[in-house]
Amino acid sequence: MRDKWSSRSTFILAAVGSAVGLGNAWRFPGLAAKHGGGAFLFVYVLAMLLIGIPLLMMEIAIGRRTRQGAPGAMRAVNKTGEHAGWIAVSNGIAIGIYYAVVFAWVILMFLLSFKFAGFTGDTESASKLWITTINTTGTTSGFGTISWPVLGCLLIAWIACYLCIRNGTTSVGKVVKYTVSLPVICLLILAVRGFTMPGAMEGLAKLFVPDWSALGDSTLWVDAIGQVFYSLSVAMAIMFAYGSFVDEKANIAIDCVIIAVSDFVISLLAGIVMFTTMAGVGMLDNMSASGISTAFIIYPQAIVSLTKVPWINAAFAYVFYFCLITLAIDSLFSIVEGSSTAIADKFKLNKKKTTTVLCLIEGVLGLIFVTGAGLACLDIVDNFVNSYTLILTGIFEVIIVGWCFKTSKVLDQINLNTQNFKMPKWWFYLSIKFVAPVILTALFVWNVVSLFVGGGIYGAGDGYSLLSNIILGWLVMGLSLISGFIVKAIAKSGKKSAEEEAGWDDIKE
Ligand code: PHE
Repeated sequence: MRDKWSSRSTFILAAVGSAVGLGNAWRFPGLAAKHGGGAFLFVYVLAMLLIGIPLLMMEIAIGRRTRQGAPGAMRAVNKTGEHAGWIAVSNGIAIGIYYAVVFAWVILMFLLSFKFAGFTGDTESASKLWITTINTTGTTSGFGTISWPVLGCLLIAWIACYLCIRNGTTSVGKVVKYTVSLPVICLLILAVRGFTMPGAMEGLAKLFVPDWSALGDSTLWVDAIGQVFYSLSVAMAIMFAYGSFVDEKANIAIDCVIIAVSDFVISLLAGIVMFTTMAGVGMLDNMSASGISTAFIIYPQAIVSLTKVPWINAAFAYVFYFCLITLAIDSLFSIVEGSSTAIADKFKLNKKKTTTVLCLIEGVLGLIFVTGAGLACLDIVDNFVNSYTLILTGIFEVIIVGWCFKTSKVLDQINLNTQNFKMPKWWFYLSIKFVAPVILTALFVWNVVSLFVGGGIYGAGDGYSLLSNIILGWLVMGLSLISGFIVKAIAKSGKKSAEEEAGWDDIKE
């Protein structure tokens, strides 16, 4: 019998837990700061309505109908769809490997939070804490050294992840209650503190008041669409798997709106915390560095500048990093769950064993990011996956569903049990057939061009060696693009594959 969520709220919480992750906490506020506050929010909401929400509904509905992980689900839509499914799984595996390492850094900072007490007022030392502990060279050389504290935390990260998903929907259902509510509580506490700081209003103005001239900057659009995509956890094989555990009676249209709105609201809440706190310590201008450095370099400086009382600052640090831990864990395990569901479905394997092996493999592969070259390697993989493979997967998915299949069948699934709110046909069609394919393709082309044009975000000027870009960027991307063929070859050599999977219409209601 296939796993099922124990209740509607469990499913919603699990999906919200996946969507709400570290991306909400530092990428979203950082991008808003960089791109004219309210102007960015405007484009973000637009992209969410036109691309994010329809895609989310589509993945969950196909998962529910077919009761399969991403590849099997997409195969029922169209035979070639299976490839798109495997690319999504590859994205999931690649992201899972390095996301666990970022999670390990967060655990490390949590454990080291007491140190902030000793750094009171000393922003210089606070900013160096993370860099010195992870022992990075900042370049792609230095594979010989390893950071033992990070290794220890990576082990904790994977054990925690495994414990949460070892019993599939049953154990996930139990933990998501906490991993979704705790970060919200932490953020609320931090927001109260933020509001009481001098300059809080100035911070809020920076977040909400639009600078419409920023709309002319194409990177705003690229960043906003990319962030919607990443934040809703689509194209990573997660939502197909989570959808495949959903009850027939579920109300996908409404549930997806709840999921997307919660994700957005929590991003805003995190934004409020970041902007008011940063304004309070006079660091508002440092906000627009939207990268990983926000949480590990800039925020520590803010923490030690909060008050002159060491223990209060340390307490704040504990709450902040605990919040990040609870944000990250359910995103991490959702991504492993997505891939393990896909693999177990395809090869008819025992789900628990598949999960165990996958955690082990991903954990071992993550060791490369624990070395001195780790930070640079992580940066390269992260950029390639987010800027290229993820978007490409989205393009394949919408083209297959929008143009190689009767799109109405997917829409019927979405609206199966809805009475009050139905996903309108014009909205879904407009998005899946036209807006999403065109905009995502434009985004993909834009990213590829900026890779080659000097001064682009990630090309000739990325500062890393060509060889490392080839191995960690191009090779990883190439492998995920051909992953469907690799799986087919493996399936052929073994007997136990599910080659006889049912098509969309063969499935009994
Ligand atoms: N939505 C997640 C975030 O914002 C992205 C993600 C999902 C990352 C799952 C990893 C795993 O952080």
